[in-house]
Amino acid sequence: MQSYDGKKRLFLALWPDDSIRQQLVPLIPASTGNGIKPQNLHITLVFLGDVAPSIAEQLIQRIDRLHPNTFSLTLDTTGYWSVPAIFWAGMQQVPDELLSLVKSLRKCARKQKLKVETRSYKPHVSLARKVKQRIQSDRPVNIEWQVDRFVLVESCQIEGGVEYRVIHEWLLQASESA
Ligand code: 2AM
Repeated sequence: MQSYDGKKRLFLALWPDDSIRQQLVPLIPASTGNGIKPQNLHITLVFLGDVAPSIAEQLIQRIDRLHPNTFSLTLDTTGYWSVPAIFWAGMQQVPDELLSLVKSLRKCARKQKLKVETRSYKPHVSLARKVKQRIQSDRPVNIEWQVDRFVLVESCQIEGGVEYRVIHEWLLQASESA
């Protein structure tokens, strides 16, 4: 949904393909909290907030100049944060390439005068929100994700929740060793 001044609520993300998504779905808790809709599963890279169209366009052009490399990550753990009450899937080893991608994207966003997170980056896939009690899952997790793209997403309020719409995609460059 666009606000009256044309701003859109945007974030940059890793967007799972169907195969990764299918592996994530069984991790969504059935009865605790509000399970994330399968089509909304993702890893946020940088949350941008409400962004004017001209700034979004400039940001896209700035990111076009980055050309980061492909990398792989392994989702091998789940966890619970009491604040903000989410149950998530994550990785024990965060690839350096992911950290450096986020660092570059935060820098691009700051150059567009967008306020972005300064805290250390904790990559995760939110699986359920408003989870009141700690969930501990014994279900083994081992999801290999070959990351070859990232996306700009609009968060739209719709009846009954939120819908995420991918509005731009960047392909990562195959690294020499890949
Ligand atoms: P989360 O999954 O950890 O809640 C879209 O809202 C995405 O941006 C969500 O995945 C959310 O992460 C992330 N995000 C980060 N900071 C946010 C903020 N201040 N408000 C809303 N979403 C935020």
